[in-house]
Amino acid sequence: MKVTVVGAGAVGASCAEYIAIKNFASEVVILDIKEGYAEGKAMDLMQCASLNGFDTKIVGSTNDYSKTAGSDICVITSGIPRKPGMTREELIGINAGIVKTVSASLVEHSPNTIIIVVSNPMDTMTYLVHKTTDLPKHKIIGMGGALDSARFKYRLAEAMDAPISDIDGMVIGGHSDKGMVPLTSHATRNSIKVSEFISEERLDQVKEDTKVGGATLTKLLGTSAWYAPGAAVSALVQAIACDQKKMFPCSALLEGEYGLRDLCIGVPVLLGRNGIEKIVDVPLSDAEKAHLAESAEGVKKTNGLLEI
Ligand code: 2OP
Repeated sequence: MKVTVVGAGAVGASCAEYIAIKNFASEVVILDIKEGYAEGKAMDLMQCASLNGFDTKIVGSTNDYSKTAGSDICVITSGIPRKPGMTREELIGINAGIVKTVSASLVEHSPNTIIIVVSNPMDTMTYLVHKTTDLPKHKIIGMGGALDSARFKYRLAEAMDAPISDIDGMVIGGHSDKGMVPLTSHATRNSIKVSEFISEERLDQVKEDTKVGGATLTKLLGTSAWYAPGAAVSALVQAIACDQKKMFPCSALLEGEYGLRDLCIGVPVLLGRNGIEKIVDVPLSDAEKAHLAESAEGVKKTNGLLEI
């Protein structure tokens, strides 16, 4: 199992580290345009192998895509992260060109690869990869909902003073400060609806805190978060690599599902060896349906800024 991670920045390096530690991949290639940077990150991570007990071979490459040839899965984290006060959508001007070039280079050397898009604005970047490569739609996956759901679970556990391992919850919709749709109607604490433990008012606060989870960290850190994004990507990579058929909310190209088409937005999918094995249709409350439709309008508006 060969995985390429483009972008040796904090998110890409964290992703590579988590993949290596989980020890399901034979090789991870980290690629960056900055001279020597990916090679340095790869060497530093390889020097953790005896300490963290993994056999995965991590290789760095300065913009040499031949090193990525034959990758089963490619992760695109390259592009600029947002600064405090910025929206993810404001990154489109720079990141669209990077993602278009990177995805073309990846597919040239790994024509059968599965691509996971992380670069923001993620839903629109995922759509861009559909429009500019000839990969089948089930092999192009946007990572946002897995991260947002992890933040949702964190906030739910905080509200109930409960262990996160007791919590289940999912966020669908656009990966944006206004477009996320935390599915509070489905969230549970050990199979019991969270509404049994949290007031509606507190649950509304949990939803709002979840939606600005990224912006909250960008304000604290001065740049985008990296540990949870890296961990979220590694979970998707593992589900594909190990053919787990696990369900995650991922940005997928919709062609009528949830009443939406011609956009990529977060919906529940089953991930396995073929990438998106199935888009899962889950019942939504009327409010959740309305929020998803509104979120889709926002994503389509950002898509309209693309010069494809
Ligand atoms: C986040 O929400 C980087 O979009 C990513 O942290």
